[in-house]
Order: sequence, then structure tokens, then C-alpha cells
Amino acid sequence: MNKFLTLAFDVYGTLIHTHGVIVALEKYVGDKAAGFSRIWREKQLEYSFRRGLMKKYETFAVCTGNALDYTCDYLKAPLSQKQKNDLLEIYRVLPAFEDVKQGLISSQEAGFRLFAFSNGSADAIEMLLTNAGIRDYFLDVVSVGEIKSFKPDPDVYNHFLKRAGSDGADSWMISGNPFDVIGAVSAGMRAAWIKRSPDAIFDPWGIEPAITVSSLSELAGQISKHLIEHPG
Ligand code: LAC
Repeated sequence: MNKFLTLAFDVYGTLIHTHGVIVALEKYVGDKAAGFSRIWREKQLEYSFRRGLMKKYETFAVCTGNALDYTCDYLKAPLSQKQKNDLLEIYRVLPAFEDVKQGLISSQEAGFRLFAFSNGSADAIEMLLTNAGIRDYFLDVVSVGEIKSFKPDPDVYNHFLKRAGSDGADSWMISGNPFDVIGAVSAGMRAAWIKRSPDAIFDPWGIEPAITVSSLSELAGQISKHLIEHPG
């Protein structure tokens, strides 16, 4: 039954730890590092949303760089261009979360088809996943850059389905980002929310993931259980 099920793994914030820059940030901004990292990530996403709406696509790396400049200005943290370049370099090789490898192995063993599906450009995602030692678990990398828009534009989820050769009912978005879960469900996919922190909050829009797990290692078992309980 699982043979044709397709899993689309979000990358930043799901497989890859975007706050992996904190150690480097501490060198530059001391105890502001955690707040800096949070504002940087929020602005990066906001810039991607705005560029998608405005139909002024630039790569996610451009959104990340612009958001870094904004965060420095906002927090009055005057980093040099070299320090900014160093941070952006680290962003290209961020680490995977600890539960990722096991989660991917058990998803493969369950017979699911695994794809990486991200706002990042294909080159950036290939590099991130290869550096983290997890590229080979995926059949392919699907980037929003192929249609020059960003999640949660429904067109990008439809593009994913076309690329993966699957339909929404048999395709699951696996994401730690609530906006991505809501975007995928709204576009007709099923979704699992990876809620690693007990404090994480899901947007109260009335659009829910089919399952919520606290670790990727629970994912394959919970999807299989869901399919038995909700056949068809
Ligand atoms: C991604 C964003 C959501 O990887 O972080 O697509």
C-alpha cells in the first residue's frame, strides 16, 4: 500500500537546522545571537512571501542576504561585509537535525518515495543535503526556483506533484513550518507537522495537518497508522 506514497520533505527548518548559525553569531553579537537568528529567519521568510506575491522572484539566498542586512540594521549590530559573508557561507552548510537520518531510513524502509522540496535553489539544496550526508535518501530535489515563485503559492505545490508524478491524495508534505503545512493542505496534499519543540504553535486557521509528530523518527510509523485508520 505504501509503495506509491510520496513524501515531500521541506528542507530549512525541517531537515536542516536554520539556527545552526547561532554559534557563529555569538562571536559577533554575543547574547543577542538567539534573537538575531530568529529575526533573520522571520525576515527571510517574509521576503520570500513578498517576492512571491509581487512576482519579483530572486533566489532564496538573495532573501537570506537581504534579511541579514535588515537584521543588522534592526538590532544595530554593525557587522562587517566579511562577517556577513562568513555567516552566509555557514548558511550554505547548515547541519541536519539529529533525528533526520533515522527518519529518512525508516521512511525508505516503509516503501515511501522520498523527495526534498524547498524554497531553496536546486544548487543550494543539493549542496546542503550532500554536506549533511543525506542527499542519497532522496529520489530527487524539487526547487521552487523551477517556476520562480515561493511556498505557499499553490502553484509550487502543484509543480511538486507534477515533478514527482503523483497526486495530492497520495502525497504528503513533511514540514516543521506551519505555513508550509497549511499551504500544502490548502493545495490538496496531505501533511505532517514536525513539532520538535513543545512550545511551537500552529497557526489557528482551521487547516490542520493529518498528523503531528515530535521527531522525524516517528514519522513513517505514524503515517502508516494514519493510512490504516483512514483508508482511501
Ligand atoms: C523551505 C523553507 C520553507 O525549505 O524553509 O522550503
